[in-house]
Amino acid sequence: MKAIDTPIHLSQLQRRGFIPEPIPPEVSLVDEIQRLKREKNAVILAHYYQEEAIQELSDYLGDSLYLAQAAEKVEAEMIVFAGVHFMAETAKIVNPSKKVLLPDLKAGCSLADSCPPQDFKKFLSQYPEAVVVTYINCSAEIKALSDIVCTSSNAVRVIESIPKETPIVFAPDKNLGRYLIKETGRDMILWDGACLVHEAFSFNRIIALVKEYPTAEFIAHPESESQVLDIAHYIGSTSGLLQHVQKSPATIFIVATEAGILHEMKKRCPEKTFIPAPVEDETCACSECAFMKLNTLEKLYNCLRYELPEIELDSQLMAAAKAPIDRMLALG
Ligand code: 13P
Ligand code: SF4
Repeated sequence: MKAIDTPIHLSQLQRRGFIPEPIPPEVSLVDEIQRLKREKNAVILAHYYQEEAIQELSDYLGDSLYLAQAAEKVEAEMIVFAGVHFMAETAKIVNPSKKVLLPDLKAGCSLADSCPPQDFKKFLSQYPEAVVVTYINCSAEIKALSDIVCTSSNAVRVIESIPKETPIVFAPDKNLGRYLIKETGRDMILWDGACLVHEAFSFNRIIALVKEYPTAEFIAHPESESQVLDIAHYIGSTSGLLQHVQKSPATIFIVATEAGILHEMKKRCPEKTFIPAPVEDETCACSECAFMKLNTLEKLYNCLRYELPEIELDSQLMAAAKAPIDRMLALG
């Protein structure tokens, strides 16, 4: 297939399963991505779990909250989202006039997948009085069924903004939900979802590593299981973890979240040591999110080149999903 200069038939191509032309080996992907970004007035938003080269190429690098806030303010014509589907979808919802691209449409999220809209609707019908709080790691359909969205950075603030006597349904992450129950003292009704990556950490192997490095601090993302969080010195979102390693006097950290975050940790604290928390299966790189890692430099280049794949959403769905995101953003 010939290279496309103007994206006239992108929707049809996207639906048919577009196969790009092979990239000649002499092409410098980094240079070409920079050139295309300038030419097409595009910006790259990347999550900390992306591969290092993609993080380095990004215009905005951050956690889910920062990226949603940044997406809302983008003035460029095009947003290339180096992250997973729910993140790109959120960008489209908060800034619908922009063309939002995701290098690989299959970059999903096990947590978002653990909450199918029809099942969730049925679940909610049991709790008509409840305020529905959903973690941003869910589909637009789930957001549309929510009252307010949260991320791991602002979840405590979001829960505390709800009157004490009001029952709360929290979805889809039961681990983050349990953590929030402890932190806020609120008795929430939890949906039974989880993230595969954060559930893969091995409690026993973490204990062994902590014994091996007695001066190390063990830090964890709140998507991890309760027994892992119970032994953590610090619990926080990816940006929270980053701020913590900069502030802490400790020089060694055992880090229980997706391993991509170590790149930014090492950049900010080159004199400190960061050890990825061990997973149950010693033979796999399970602390890497396979969905996040579907994005590659090649796909990023093709995405900018062909302006594909594009996030397309029904306008009614976008409006319904926007209201609970706006409520979250209004909290600051
Ligand atoms: P953060 O909002 O902490 O970056 O988390 C995103 C995520 O997907 C964690 O698995
Ligand atoms: Fe989803 Fe887990 Fe990957 Fe985050 S790390 S994107 S929650 S599967």
